[in-house]
Amino acid sequence: MLKPVIEPSVNAEDFAGQASWAAPSNIAIVKYWGKHGVQLPRNPSVSMTLSKALTGTRLHWRPGTGRLVAFSASGEADAQFADRVAAYLSKMALEHPALARLDFGVETENAFPHSSGIASSASGFAALALGLASAVVAESQGAEASLPEDGPAFRSFAGRLARLGSGSASRSLCGPWMAWGQTEAFADNAEKPTDDHAVPLDHVHADFSTWRDAIAIVDAGKKAVSSSAGHRLMEGNPFAETRFGNARQRTLALDRALREGDTDTFVQIAEAEALELHALMMSSKPSYILMRPGTLAVIQAVQEFRADTDLPLCFTLDAGPNVHLLYPASAAAQVEDFIHDAVRRYCDDGRVLMDAAGEGPTRLKD
Ligand code: PMV
Repeated sequence: MLKPVIEPSVNAEDFAGQASWAAPSNIAIVKYWGKHGVQLPRNPSVSMTLSKALTGTRLHWRPGTGRLVAFSASGEADAQFADRVAAYLSKMALEHPALARLDFGVETENAFPHSSGIASSASGFAALALGLASAVVAESQGAEASLPEDGPAFRSFAGRLARLGSGSASRSLCGPWMAWGQTEAFADNAEKPTDDHAVPLDHVHADFSTWRDAIAIVDAGKKAVSSSAGHRLMEGNPFAETRFGNARQRTLALDRALREGDTDTFVQIAEAEALELHALMMSSKPSYILMRPGTLAVIQAVQEFRADTDLPLCFTLDAGPNVHLLYPASAAAQVEDFIHDAVRRYCDDGRVLMDAAGEGPTRLKD
């Protein structure tokens, strides 16, 4: 079959409708690692939505057959990325009849530096899924036609579409705290977390809405093993069942810690989850290591700082070498001095991205 031609730039006049969204990335405290079926998680996960690591995406549409026909990323054609988005859009056309009747143009841009080592799949798929949900609202005659874009039903629908692009993207649809995956925790939350899409957490102590995330860029390079490959390797991992049980237990403990403002338990869970995620990579077959010497140096400095000052600074890691330093606004002055004096030296070009808990996506002017 001939591959469809994807135009390397987007001309708005070639399309009939458009919607633009900015969506943030998120950082998991309890990690999603291992999946089954159609992008369903093996265990629940809990995350903090960020506010500065954003992707802005303008989705254009016109009558068609569910194809991507024009694409640009940061104003440039990016064939590899375009292929991934094209594959995603043709999958989404099977999810909703309104999407199967449209062709799409996508313009997308990250607010965080390219090659900063920050995964853009959560913010990228969240912004794109919101555009698709807006297209469904605009192009449907049925019940969806009247879905308010700031309501929970629209967000859940977009959250499901985002999950099908990248699981963690489902947790970027709202903020500042989100849970995804079936769990006994959060029993009195307005919406129960399900495997289908993530939900915002209602009963989080006010102190946790001021938390910050300073991302120490130890290595800005592309990682050697993708998250999709990592999820797949969990299938043969000898510790998999223990891992899924640990994540379930920690989700229950984190539920209590978040509502009570218990920072000691939070710190202990965040660090245990980060180290376990990387231990799973090391115990996969084949084994791999994404941490770098600088990763361990930053981790050690964080633990020493905490022992010396008693301030609730902790670290977490994504599937990569960069270290996320998490702390409440009340400790910001001391922590930020510490970052300057003891962390920047381990970072690529001294780079640390300063971010904080955020409220989730916003619809941009079209
Ligand atoms: O959303 P994915 O498929 O890129 O997986 C993300 C997995 C982690 O970032 C390592 C953990 C998480 O829960 O975000």
